[in-house]
Amino acid sequence: MPTTQDALSTALDLNWIRSQFPSLAEKVNGYPAAYLDGPGGTQVPQRVIDAISDYLKHSNANTNGAYATSHRTNEIIAGARSAMGDFLGCDPDEVVFGLNMTSLTYAMSRAIGRELGPGDEIVLTLLDHDANFAPWEALAERGVTIRRVAINPADCTLDMNDLAGKINSHTKLVAVGYASNAVGTINNVKEVVRLAHAAGALAYIDAVHYAPHGPLDVRALDCDFLVCSSYKFFGPHMGVLYGKGEHLRRLRPYKLRANTNESPNRWEWGTLNHECIAGITACVDYVADIGRRVNPSISSRRPAILAAYDEIVKYERSLCERLVVGLRTIPESRLYGIADPGRFEHRCPTIAVRIDGHTPLELSTKLGERGLFTWDGNYYALNLTEQLDVEKDGGFLRMGLFHYNTVDEVDRLLVALREIVAR
Ligand SMILES: Cc1ncc(COP(=O)(O)O)c(C=O)c1O
Repeated sequence: MPTTQDALSTALDLNWIRSQFPSLAEKVNGYPAAYLDGPGGTQVPQRVIDAISDYLKHSNANTNGAYATSHRTNEIIAGARSAMGDFLGCDPDEVVFGLNMTSLTYAMSRAIGRELGPGDEIVLTLLDHDANFAPWEALAERGVTIRRVAINPADCTLDMNDLAGKINSHTKLVAVGYASNAVGTINNVKEVVRLAHAAGALAYIDAVHYAPHGPLDVRALDCDFLVCSSYKFFGPHMGVLYGKGEHLRRLRPYKLRANTNESPNRWEWGTLNHECIAGITACVDYVADIGRRVNPSISSRRPAILAAYDEIVKYERSLCERLVVGLRTIPESRLYGIADPGRFEHRCPTIAVRIDGHTPLELSTKLGERGLFTWDGNYYALNLTEQLDVEKDGGFLRMGLFHYNTVDEVDRLLVALREIVAR
């Protein structure tokens, strides 16, 4: 097996990419830090750090005042809405900023739930993160029937027959993840949206895990809502919701009188995190710059973002294959999720394993001592760990690969795992 970065051909300029992230220079116990913990939150490029601190230095104010820094704040928020419009493929006023995906989803479930009651049904999946489950399940208090879609345990994919069978004329909303943050499965969300709409239901997509790994196009998906978190795609700790304009205008949010009835203002309560909103523009521009380096003839932001993801997808898939093939040489390991490289277009490079005789916490701790940052547990994909019966034994060891990771990091991880298991 080749061991250098050159072994994987990619159009990505990895030297430039890695030079953008100051944290990649960190060391732990003399080892270079390898961030395989991106599913819990990615690293940020210097420009995001700069945008946040520049905002605080030069533009720090509340919105809508009659003076320079307040004007700048308004402009920075408008700029970030436009950046997210390019990232998601929607209009800027269909972009809602919030604390994180979870709180945005609770806000939306409360607003949608106001119109629901006994006789109405909501379809959820057992593959989803709890943040796209619990806020909807809470509507059972209003008499709404909750239907739960099963998974195929052999490869941790959604059981689409079960999903289709659970949608009926009473269904008012189908909430589904674009990709699983635990086992990496990419769901056929376009088909889920089609099935939901055929029954007259809304489709709510959790794209938190997918957003750093693949392009988002809410118009092509035709989803009603899509949520993501910028801290998972190289930005600050915030959440972003896309809603079709007609829904954002028609639904009734719980809100203060101080919020106007204009959308998206009616969904954004209190004072937002302006400095992080400044950072969101910077992280979207970072992704676009990857695309411009791949194809210098592209200058507009949306096409540049799409060009970046074309290469990110290919590069991450080859890293993923290397890790999965390597894990197979550790006989004590068991991989959860799609394992056949021929089907890798249906998974993100997010790998969950268990290794006989070692708890995920022990493995993650020992890897951490060698500068290899991974995660252990259920990562709030609690329904999944319960179904696979790993919850009581510490869940999985999760390794997430991103475009800033390298072949050498994957190889270091495999060597370290073999050593830990051999002891
Ligand atoms: C798939 C998925 N959905 C939702 C969330 C919750 O996101 P947030 O932390 O922005 O509330 C996470 C967080 O890990 C996630 O991975």
